[in-house]
Amino acid sequence: MITGGAGFIGSHVVRLFVRKYPQYTIINLDALTYAGNLENLKDIESAPNYRFVKADILNQAGLEKIFDEYGITDIIHLAAESHVDRSIVSPLDFVYTNIIGTVNLLNTARHKWAEPAGHLFYHVSTDEVFGSLGEKGFFSETSPYAPNSPYSASKASSDHFVRAYHETYHLDTIVSNCSNNYGPNHFPEKLIPLFINNIIQRKPLPVYGDGKFTRDWLYVKDHARAIDLVFHNGKPGETYNIGGFNEWKNIDLVKLLCTLMDVKLGRAAGDSEQLITYVKDRPGHDRRYAIDATKISSELGWKPSVTFEQGLSETIDWYLNNTEWLNHVTSGSYQTYYESMYANR
Ligand code: NAD
Ligand code: TYD
Repeated sequence: MITGGAGFIGSHVVRLFVRKYPQYTIINLDALTYAGNLENLKDIESAPNYRFVKADILNQAGLEKIFDEYGITDIIHLAAESHVDRSIVSPLDFVYTNIIGTVNLLNTARHKWAEPAGHLFYHVSTDEVFGSLGEKGFFSETSPYAPNSPYSASKASSDHFVRAYHETYHLDTIVSNCSNNYGPNHFPEKLIPLFINNIIQRKPLPVYGDGKFTRDWLYVKDHARAIDLVFHNGKPGETYNIGGFNEWKNIDLVKLLCTLMDVKLGRAAGDSEQLITYVKDRPGHDRRYAIDATKISSELGWKPSVTFEQGLSETIDWYLNNTEWLNHVTSGSYQTYYESMYANR
């Protein structure tokens, strides 16, 4: 069972598993919040080894029924509230889904898997649990937890619960902590898809603070490949950091995006850069994230398959070729969200 499979990363994981492992039956459990979208999985929806189940991880009784009905053997858990800015506005939503939802799933697995060995609970998490780096250094698997946003605090808490269920109840668990993802099907609220959409629409590009905040970007399909490797070859009880060795200051990334999009949209060079607008900083904004991915690369043989320029170019092409998807996700309540997030900055 893959939870959150209708979301951004989850949909890439579901597609990879459905196609690569015809011998597995993949159950995609998702509540279809604003971030979940079954259009992300149209190409595999009628595959014989795929089932979608609309369910909320906050509903413990519902989870137990699903375990019984489908005989769930292993879990890759991605369902979450995932956007830092939303967590600043509504922290409790993050407590419910990310912490209580994860503990519900852990409890269900613990109760249903009478013999805990032979099953795996794989929890997908973020590097944001480690807090913020200075100019130098990297997060490793032994970095101390120091979450600064309600989002990262909720993910840190869920990571700790997963660890505790391994230690206390001997559930086989793995946690991976990944850097910022980008790619197709990303909801236009995070930096890259929001700015791609705004450039298309000629809307302002709101760069927070001085724009020199640094993120380590990884193409979503490379994250999905890493999850496949960790699920199959990772050691229970361990954690794995996943990242692209690909650090960009926000403003440099935004300028690259503008340059690429001017070319693809047939606009004059420098046109989209004029949309850049510096706005008030995000509270608690982490200055820099960077992952040391040595463990997953040396132990499991993983490395990213595309350069950032390739991945970004493919991503832009995907958005330009999927205007129906983009129009769909930016209609309805999206406009209200957008106004409320950016009007007062
Ligand atoms: P997303 O917001 O695109 O998708 C989350 C999915 O979870 C959606 O399909 C949503 O409908 C579902 N969901 C939310 N609440 C639910 C609930 N109560 N019950 C069932 N389903 C629910 O998120 P994403 O960016 O794909 O991230 C997936 C996971 O990976 C998250 O756990 C996130 O913390 C982690 N992660 C994300 C990134 C990133 O850059 N996006 C990086 C590292 C780790
Ligand atoms: P985001 O995509 O929200 O990911 P995260 O906060 O989880 O790293 O943001 C990436 C970086 O871009 C982060 O430093 C905040 C910044 N940012 C902006 O400058 N403007 C924006 O409109 C958004 C959404 C993010």
